[in-house]
Amino acid sequence: MGIIINEDSQCFHLQAKDTSYIIQIHDAGYPLHVYWGRKLHSSCTADDLIPHLKLQNNLDKLPQEYPQYGTGDFRNPAYQVELEDGSRITEFIYRRYRLLEGKPALEGLPATYVELASEAQTLELELQDAYSGLIMQLSYTVFADHNAIARSVRFCNKGLKTLQLQRVLSASVDFGRDHFEAVYLSGAWTREGHIQRRALGPGITRIESRRGASSHQLNPFIALVSPNTGEDQGDVYGFSLVYSGNFVIDAEVDSMHSTRVSIGINPFDFSWQLQPGECFQSPEAVLVYSANGLGEMSRTYHSLYRTRLCRGLYRYKERPILVNNWEATYFQFDVGKLEAIAKAAAELGIELFVLDDGWFGNRNDDTTSLGDWSEDFRKLPNGLPDLAARIQGLGLQFGLWVEPEMISPDSELYRRHPDWCLHVDGRRRTEARTQLVLDYSREEIVDYIFETLSSLFEKAQVNYVKWDMNRNMTEIGSVNRSPAQQKETAHRYILGLYRLLERLTARFPHILFENCASGGGRFDPGMLYYMPQTWTSDNTDAVERLKIQFGMSLVYPISAIGAHVSAVPNHQVGRITPLSTRGDVAMSGNFGYELDLTKLSKDEKGIVIQQVNQYKRFRHLVQTGNYYRLLSPFEGNDTSWMFVSNDRTEALVYYFKVLAEPNVPVKQLKLQGLDPTFTYRVSGTNLTITGDRLLHAGIQVPAMEGDFASGWIYLLASPRR
Ligand code: DGJ
Repeated sequence: MGIIINEDSQCFHLQAKDTSYIIQIHDAGYPLHVYWGRKLHSSCTADDLIPHLKLQNNLDKLPQEYPQYGTGDFRNPAYQVELEDGSRITEFIYRRYRLLEGKPALEGLPATYVELASEAQTLELELQDAYSGLIMQLSYTVFADHNAIARSVRFCNKGLKTLQLQRVLSASVDFGRDHFEAVYLSGAWTREGHIQRRALGPGITRIESRRGASSHQLNPFIALVSPNTGEDQGDVYGFSLVYSGNFVIDAEVDSMHSTRVSIGINPFDFSWQLQPGECFQSPEAVLVYSANGLGEMSRTYHSLYRTRLCRGLYRYKERPILVNNWEATYFQFDVGKLEAIAKAAAELGIELFVLDDGWFGNRNDDTTSLGDWSEDFRKLPNGLPDLAARIQGLGLQFGLWVEPEMISPDSELYRRHPDWCLHVDGRRRTEARTQLVLDYSREEIVDYIFETLSSLFEKAQVNYVKWDMNRNMTEIGSVNRSPAQQKETAHRYILGLYRLLERLTARFPHILFENCASGGGRFDPGMLYYMPQTWTSDNTDAVERLKIQFGMSLVYPISAIGAHVSAVPNHQVGRITPLSTRGDVAMSGNFGYELDLTKLSKDEKGIVIQQVNQYKRFRHLVQTGNYYRLLSPFEGNDTSWMFVSNDRTEALVYYFKVLAEPNVPVKQLKLQGLDPTFTYRVSGTNLTITGDRLLHAGIQVPAMEGDFASGWIYLLASPRR
């Protein structure tokens, strides 16, 4: 790993683990994109620039690192600036570079990090637009142990005039070919993380959010793959944005058959005023290359995000098995009901009780009280601390739900501060779920929420927080900003949210935070930096979850994917699935229950005890092992995935069959990730099978009866032959 620099040829060869990325400065001063792919061992020489690029002066044909607007490149620009004189033309010319050991933090933004300087190197390229005095700093970090490159951009106004940034993307990459397919995640509420794959054609394929959150609809991720790419073969170029607000990812195929991918904050309804002396920092984009298919790309994101994006106590710590009362009680509960569920949970071996919505203000439905974060004494007569102490007295941790970014028009807070929500004077305030959004772009509001939550978390001694966010932004505007700054509001909101989360996680380092936005409405790397797990979807049906969890695993580590066993008929789709299958699906993620445990039969309790014990035995594999997708729920009736320990001595394979089929042939399932030289003992049998056979010939899938069936196999390696 390292960054090799040739000053004569102005060439920068960035080497991550097995990946090279090469930049060279064109004679006219533009940084050009020369190469990204398998690691090259040659260093930069005077001849590195692809020969035809040397002669090329037509900007529309040059592969650029951070393309400008208005001077001959008619493809998507990476940035746009409006100067005080109304002009939009800039010409950034390379000035110098800086090479750093390690990786600097991004001011005010979540980002990947290192713990030792030896884990990464960072290259900063500085460019300047002489006319305006604006400085652009392109930053690239390569990681020694990951095939990942983290990119971001910083603009600093060193001139004397105020500028308006209208577009600041985080990264742009030009590929000199167009035979790509795009793989990305689409969805909706209760249908998150569905994998889409389609060929790119001339024009722009756009993935974006304009909702103020990264969204259920499209996740801030895209992979460009060669048409033959599968799970374990083919070239993959992944792009993931560490950001939780409006984003855009464009894949543009132009008339010269080249493809430009650009990713960053969505320029839609965005601009940023930059006064002399001020800087603007873009979010980080994490680019991952895999020469061996989507599976390897996912494992790179998983290990990088789990160990160098997630932070805090729970980064490596096993996550507790929880029970959440939402689907068990919704808003209708009293202290007796909660205690009964907690008592049943403790008896079953569950480790954390989560009190969901409905415990505060006058909250008997979703029309009221957001903002009034003190307990409803009609439901909890002795208060929240007393309930927490009782739960903790049962040997369980105590978790609490909050939705602190919101305000109900019917709340004490709104009556005191009707101007605290995002709004535009003289316009109606659009409600969704009968609530409005607090204006987190305003510091005094963020400070108020910090104080309110701090005293709440302290008084109730909470061990876990479920942080919910249940609507998107409308009437985006902020009373504190000038007319020229109104389009900063959505981004300033996200910066305010990040500031708040930074302060809370620093003040309460022992609390496990779980991110939620009506399920996966803000399941993104930005939130993962503060909260190591996410409630993946409000859809808890085992069959629906196969697709949702399989899809989210494309980018997000399994330890981040919250998954619960719920009651049947399922509350979202009405399907009746066996408890064992619901368990196997949920145990393939960050495991918990979300049903009334007091209503389980004796037999069901027996199954739950088995599941809890099984998860405790295997959770190190699920939460920190390497994950392999074997059969896709998007392609057939059967789904399978497996977890393998880092030393490959242990593996856990899950298999799911949605509908029963007649006359099925004996199915052989080829496994992945095992050591071909090991011999594995197969759980539940007397069989020992060599790793190479399991990898290349496969293992026989046990016969499964009925619809919605599942099974699992645990493999343990005996010593080397
Ligand atoms: C939406 C969440 O996704 C659910 O899990 C639950 O917490 C409800 N909000 C509560 O209102």
